[in-house]
This record gives sequence, C-alpha cells and structure tokens, in this order.
Amino acid sequence: MRFVVITIFPEFFDGALEVGLLGKAVESGLLEVVTVSPREFTVDRHRTVDDTPYGGGPGMVMLLEPLVAALEFAAARYPENRRILLSPQGTRFHQAMAQELASLDTIFLVCGRYEGVDQRLVDGGYVHQELSIGDYVLNGGEVAALVVIEACSRLLPGMVGNQESVEQDSFSEGIFDHPHYSRPRDYRGLSVPEVLLSGNHAAIRRWRDEEARRRTRNRRPELLTEP
Ligand code: 6GU
Repeated sequence: MRFVVITIFPEFFDGALEVGLLGKAVESGLLEVVTVSPREFTVDRHRTVDDTPYGGGPGMVMLLEPLVAALEFAAARYPENRRILLSPQGTRFHQAMAQELASLDTIFLVCGRYEGVDQRLVDGGYVHQELSIGDYVLNGGEVAALVVIEACSRLLPGMVGNQESVEQDSFSEGIFDHPHYSRPRDYRGLSVPEVLLSGNHAAIRRWRDEEARRRTRNRRPELLTEP
C-alpha cells in the first residue's frame, strides 16, 4: 500500500516511518510513503504557500495553486485510488474507515496547515473526501496523516507479526478490548484475576468477553448501540 502525502513538512514523517512496525513495513516494501511538498511548486521568490484570507480575519490560508500543482505532480506519477484532505471539518476517522482504506492501493493525503486551505480545493473536486481524527484542533494535518497511515497499514496482511492480535484488538468488533495482565502474579498487592490463572479456556473467553462489554458500556455506551 502506498501513501502520497502532500505536506509542507516532509521531514515530519521521517522519524515515525523509521521505527517499530511502521519502520518494518516500509523496509519490507509492504508500505510506501512518499511526500510531495507544495513549496516545490511555488514560482515566486519567497516560495509562498500561504496568504491572508479574502474578507479579512486572523491567520493565513494555504494557497490553492501550490497544492493543486503538488497533487497533479503526484497524480502523474502514481495511479491513485483516493484523495483525502485532512482537516478538523472532515468526517470523523474510525476503525471501519481504516479497514476500507487499507484495501486501496494508493491514497493521497493532503495536509492542511495554518487556519485552513482555500475552499476551492474541495469545491473544485481536487479531493474526494475530508477526514478529521477527532474534535480538537491541531496545527496541521501531519499528525492526522500519520494516524491514518498507521491505522491502515497495521491492517495489511503480513504487517503485524501476529494477525490474530489485530483481529482481537479494540474496535475490530466495534467494542473495546478486554484488560490484559502479565507477570508478576502479585505486584505490591495488586493481583491478577483468578480466572486467568485457572487454565479454563472457556471461562477465560467468557470473562474477557464480559469485561470488554462492561468497559464499553461504562465508557462508550454508544458503541454498543450504534450500527
Ligand atoms: Cl485532520 N487537522 C487539523 N488541523 N486538526 C485536526 C484534525 C485534522 N483532526 C482533528 N483535529
């Protein structure tokens, strides 16, 4: 799977793609992440990628032309399946969306910065959808792009060493994961639930299932009722 990230901060992605499972996925060729900077497509002396908003007000707006030029450069090189703009106004990203995106071959991720991007990027059909990772404001879409990349790529067959662990993760069935325990059996008076030490696998499965539901009911009841 390939992500082409349109960002004015390509370096932002370097470290994150070098370590852990993401690093392994890149190394093995399972995951490819290419960055394209709109700044490379500016024509003025100052390489301007933002300007003041028409109508006034605080902050800067990301200019349309360098963004579209970067997208067209990327589109000429890669056959793309989806163009996504990361913005706080987007629809909320969730696990089922990660599943759907992970089935695609190449995804373009456009990272907005500053107070926003010129609305004509959306209105002109230069992106297919707008995604947000939650109800808070970030300085730009870069962190969100990494979230999408990580959530999708860990679902790729062959990515996580243990495919079963992905299938049992929180949200793989739309609810939370059950609690986990490991050694020692007793830590300063904190013990491990007896059932997990019982060797009774049917009872363990039942306990884990109940705990997962109980946690979900207490913390995020809407996950149990929403379709
Ligand atoms: Cl995708 N971008 C920005 N700038 N802020 C966000 C976000 C995205 N998702 C949540 N907050």
